[in-house]
Amino acid sequence: MAYLDWNESYSVNIKEFDQQHKKLVSLLNELFEAMKAGSAKQILGVILNSLIDYTEKHFAAEEALMEKYDFPELWRHRNEHIHLTKQVLAFKDKYERGEVSLSVEMSGFLKAWLTDHILKTDKRYTEFLNKNGVY
Ligand SMILES: [Fe+2]
Repeated sequence: MAYLDWNESYSVNIKEFDQQHKKLVSLLNELFEAMKAGSAKQILGVILNSLIDYTEKHFAAEEALMEKYDFPELWRHRNEHIHLTKQVLAFKDKYERGEVSLSVEMSGFLKAWLTDHILKTDKRYTEFLNKNGVY
């Protein structure tokens, strides 16, 4: 069993974003596995950077689609993306400076960081975008 298993309860009912969320889940699992295996800091850093890069691309894709259809909550959602990005970049900086290590606790933070956003915020665009014919 993976550290985080994607299941239908995470679906936002938009194929492209479900695929991207699955990719984020798999990067988080990769990071957790590498951490558990005691991989070198450099390797963990590479995976962490992939997770951050992919997150930024994914957030941009969500925002572009919300913007295209004039989703009324775009700004609220965008602000949350900004906040989440700041959180993870702050963690990355501390990690690179050696002030924190990648631990079970930190993986828990990243897990909640990802799942809370999908479940509480992303799902808010589902109905609106589906009504606009986007699935
Ligand atoms: Fe989002």
